[in-house]
Amino acid sequence: MKIDLSGKVILVTGGPGGIGNVIVRQLAAAGAKVAIHYSKSAAKAEKLAHGVGNGAKSFCADLSEPKNGVRLFGEVLEAFGRMDVLVNNAGVYLKSPNDENIDRWLASWNTTIAVNLTSAGVLCREAVNYFRKAGGGRIIHIASRAAFRGDYEDYFAYAASKGGMVALSRTIARAYGKDNIKSFVVAPGFVRTPIIDEYIAEHGDEKIMKELSLKELTRPEDVAPTVVFLASGLMDHATGCSIDINAASYMR
Ligand SMILES: NC(=O)c1ccc[n+]([C@@H]2O[C@H](COP(=O)([O-])OP(=O)(O)OC[C@H]3O[C@@H](n4cnc5c(N)ncnc54)[C@H](OP(=O)(O)O)[C@@H]3O)[C@@H](O)[C@H]2O)c1
Repeated sequence: MKIDLSGKVILVTGGPGGIGNVIVRQLAAAGAKVAIHYSKSAAKAEKLAHGVGNGAKSFCADLSEPKNGVRLFGEVLEAFGRMDVLVNNAGVYLKSPNDENIDRWLASWNTTIAVNLTSAGVLCREAVNYFRKAGGGRIIHIASRAAFRGDYEDYFAYAASKGGMVALSRTIARAYGKDNIKSFVVAPGFVRTPIIDEYIAEHGDEKIMKELSLKELTRPEDVAPTVVFLASGLMDHATGCSIDINAASYMR
């Protein structure tokens, strides 16, 4: 089976990140024109856009301010003239112990919800409004095992944000199927990327590895092919689904 995404414009938020950059590379290798969103990693985003070619471009937006999602979506449309797939991948994983000061706790909660959920919601709003006029489209959410299993004690906000993302995806799948809009969740367990550096530094690899049934920790390369497959349209009748990629550390 050959997946051909030529002619498709795909926005990947958090494009230069650990999982994002492999998603971007694999989508571009399948022929897509990729809009690479970043917040702080301008140089990495530029290099990635240049490296994958195929007309890829980078776009900056700080998604801790969710209204920036409106501008981001508009800039991508203006640059490429169309949009076929939105990949909501940008995210933060902020440790926030429940005995810390309430102001610090709330600041972590608010940033996590803003980046992981509210911005994803804003981008979905823009995408749905555009896709309805354009004849359809696909949305792929990078959520987490935490949405279904729950997370560790210091990560209330993260689990809540990813649970919200799953509900968001299912709502879009139910509400807009007749408008030819499909929505999917990819739910990884731990994946070796910078987002879990703090957790590994504190707990070590062993704690994570003990939960897995496989011998190796999941890599971004184990997640990205599912995104390419979902973007292709070959999985459209699975709209509303959530696909677990967690090395059997949690089975629903
Ligand atoms: N790695 C895991 O174990 C794991 C497991 C389950 C789910 N996930 C999910 O996978 C997604 C990608 O994570 P990753 O592992 O690739 O982590 P990562 O390497 O840290 O990448 C995170 C990405 O999110 C972007 N981002 C962070 N804060 C942002 C903000 N305020 N505004 C806009 N963008 C922001 C970053 O952009 P800049 O660098 O430009 O700031 C970066 O590209 C996340 O949604 C994460 O929750 C990861």
